[in-house]
Amino acid sequence: MRSIFRPLRCFYTPKASIATRRRNVLGSCFYSSHATSTSSPSPSPSPSTSNDEKWSHPPSTATVTDDEIADLTNKRQHPLSLADLVKHGRPPLSAEALFSSANFTLSLLPIRLAHRIQALRNLPFIVVSNPNISKIYHNYLHSLSTLLPWRHRTINNLDAEILFTSVLAELVHTHQDTIPILAKGFLECRRYISPQEVTRFLDTHLRTRIGTRLIAEQHIALHYSSLPHFDPSASPTPCPEHPSYIGVIDTALSPSAVIDSCAGFVADICELKYGVRPHWVIDGEPETTFAFVPMHLEYIVTELLKNAFRATVESGHNREPVVITIAPEPPDAGPPRVTLEPPAGDKGAFKSDAIKPLDDNAPGVTIRIRDRGGGIAPDVLPNIWSYSFTTFMEEDDIPGSGNNGNGGAGNDALSVISASGSGGSSIAGLGYGLPLSRAYAEYFGGGIAVQSLYGWGTDVYLRLKGVGKIDTISP
Ligand SMILES: Nc1ncnc2c1ncn2[C@@H]1O[C@H](COP(=O)(O)OP(=O)(O)O)[C@@H](O)[C@H]1O
Ligand SMILES: [Mg+2]
Repeated sequence: MRSIFRPLRCFYTPKASIATRRRNVLGSCFYSSHATSTSSPSPSPSPSTSNDEKWSHPPSTATVTDDEIADLTNKRQHPLSLADLVKHGRPPLSAEALFSSANFTLSLLPIRLAHRIQALRNLPFIVVSNPNISKIYHNYLHSLSTLLPWRHRTINNLDAEILFTSVLAELVHTHQDTIPILAKGFLECRRYISPQEVTRFLDTHLRTRIGTRLIAEQHIALHYSSLPHFDPSASPTPCPEHPSYIGVIDTALSPSAVIDSCAGFVADICELKYGVRPHWVIDGEPETTFAFVPMHLEYIVTELLKNAFRATVESGHNREPVVITIAPEPPDAGPPRVTLEPPAGDKGAFKSDAIKPLDDNAPGVTIRIRDRGGGIAPDVLPNIWSYSFTTFMEEDDIPGSGNNGNGGAGNDALSVISASGSGGSSIAGLGYGLPLSRAYAEYFGGGIAVQSLYGWGTDVYLRLKGVGKIDTISP
């Protein structure tokens, strides 16, 4: 078993994560070394043989039987609520509370993984046989096989809890590069599956993945910030030194600090890629804080700023700052005045999996990101929420070339993924930025709306619903 300490150390420090990424942009390429290792560990059988009936799904060496998967998928998936994640109390937790968190985590994860395995099996055989999709499929089988031995156990001593946390850490680590790998796989399979089917699958899959990771990461974070394991020098997580944290939730998260840190990271990428460093200004009420998951906010803000900075540079308006306005809602505001309903009909099956907040009326924050990057062409606009739709092409993105990609039809992102190593440190290319950011925003009941002023610029409204008053929850 791999040590749990290494992958966790750099993974969970919210403040360090952006700093680590910035180092990686400027120094060695952390992302590409992970993301390019996409070869499937197992053979992909030919889809069109007389064995078709025998192979209802790709063979696997993982020790999970079809009966076990059927048994798990017959069970109802527990609708996750935020109260579930904070019900064990504020860290440091007692050993008993920690065991209870571990057992709760254990009760949820195998069912969630089995449902994902089932969904992957339901894809056309030729798609799940693709080496990249197959790798993800096998990752799920592998992860489930590591949890099954725990399934009928109760975690009631520290040794078991430590071991279980190491299994969780391994699980989180295994699935870290899922997105670029799936993106590559679906692009390679685009002859066999329609963009609508891909978007439907990915919307459910990636949204469920947000919840699964959150459950695992919450226990890992609680583990490290709790008394039995607390070691200030080893702890990678928010802990008693950071009293505003409960696991991975920061009850006093500052959006302006996150924005500044993410904007610095994205500006580094621009500087490397275009030789230009766009400016940004934060106005509104920058001192606002609210309860939210910092990793989620970092993901969303990074993607939205990549889009804004890219458009700014490619349109030649580098001198115009991207303006980010932070607008907290008054506590008694009622329903939000800015309604952020995404275009109808493309929400996937996710809404039912959205996490229930502690308090439906928790005040939220709306963040507007305004750029002078020329807006979005009317023929591009209807596609921006589709996975894999991008107007970015490696060879087209030289500023001043007059061929800036905006206004074109969707391009083949495969070349971009291959050329860029598909890392998080590329400015654009997967076409997952907007749909996945919306998935993260909607996870806690928020949303994203894009308002394009074609020929001028774009306003993106990100509404985040606070997760509620966590302090009212008693352990
Ligand atoms: N602020 C913006 N200004 C201009 N175009 C944008 C902006 N944000 C998004 N777009 C358009 O939407 C497309 C999809 O965005 P996204 O989902 O982030 O994927 P990617 O950035 O990888 O292309 C982009 O390729 C771009 O054409
Ligand atoms: Mg983008």
